[in-house]
Amino acid sequence: MDRTCKPPGANPTWVCEVPLDGTLAVRTSPPGRSAFPSGDDRREGETIMKPRVFVSRMIPQEGLDIVLAACDAEVNADDRHLSQAELIDKVKGKEGLLCLLTDDINDAILGASPQLKVVANVAVGYDNIDVQAATRGKIIVTNTPGVLDDTTADFTWCLLVASARRLVEADRYLRAGKYTGWGIMLLCGEDIFGKTIGICGLGRIGRGVAKRARGFEMRILYTDAVRAPTEVERELGAQFVDKETLFREADFVTLHIPLLPQTHRYVSTKELMLMKKTAHLVNASRGPVVDETALVQALRERRIAGAGLDVYEHEPDMASGLVELDNVTLAPHIASASVDTRMKMAVMAATNLVEALQGRRPPNIVNPDVLS
Ligand code: DGY
Repeated sequence: MDRTCKPPGANPTWVCEVPLDGTLAVRTSPPGRSAFPSGDDRREGETIMKPRVFVSRMIPQEGLDIVLAACDAEVNADDRHLSQAELIDKVKGKEGLLCLLTDDINDAILGASPQLKVVANVAVGYDNIDVQAATRGKIIVTNTPGVLDDTTADFTWCLLVASARRLVEADRYLRAGKYTGWGIMLLCGEDIFGKTIGICGLGRIGRGVAKRARGFEMRILYTDAVRAPTEVERELGAQFVDKETLFREADFVTLHIPLLPQTHRYVSTKELMLMKKTAHLVNASRGPVVDETALVQALRERRIAGAGLDVYEHEPDMASGLVELDNVTLAPHIASASVDTRMKMAVMAATNLVEALQGRRPPNIVNPDVLS
């Protein structure tokens, strides 16, 4: 088997070697020469040491190119989630780590390399990283905010519409050969136009969802830890309410909150009991903000009409009984999965990584205290 390759569209001098353990070791040629001379007094062609980094999983080429140009990079090309032990092993001796939200970046990983300077997450959420431990260790943590907002807001609406109008159930019905003719009661769902949407978390994505709700002429309620500025409320036509009012009055409750200790199981039996029997719950934020077992029970007992879920409490596992339910639309954490957006996320994370390694403040630092 040919164990060398050139990344498509990449600098032709790059050589990738695939060792037998399935980890792709990517080196640049000539070795050690930086593609990012940092404006100092280095002479043309002078060899300097490039920072050593580990990329925990393949990312879109545009992002990888940025890493490869500036770093001595080792990339896990196996497209599988690495175990803790594997990750610790790969991080040893590295100055940078570019990781995904499926990597649990805990104290042990952060401590695996005394040289580690930066952990660049290819995600806006960074609940997979122990940021406090990173800050203690003077390790910069970065994320990818902004670039995925519209894509995620669009997908929230996919889930909302699919759940309200039973789209996936209808698709399954047809494919199962059950459609024998039009029926006046066949697969009736809930209207969306003119109804009430309840947005939990009016951050960038929540605002994107609200903007789209205006097209459906909906009454827009929101709740948040901090109330949005009056101009934002006015522009979106969004009304601030307490959590209980939102769950009681909304026909569609959609979650756009980060996973924090205080938002863990933000939706549990109590909130589900408050919801209308005709209401739907949509979650494209983080799985653990919903008590999934309580949700399965509410859906099974038809205490709410339906749910659209992109995320799960223990991904990739799902609570027992969830997949058997007809009144839930399930997606495998793909709310930001458009080709363009995933490319932008990769480029942003790679830029953060390289900026930090070259001694500059990365644009999307989440623990700026490390720099002080
Ligand atoms: C994120 O970025 O946090 C999403 O969950 C994946 O795009």
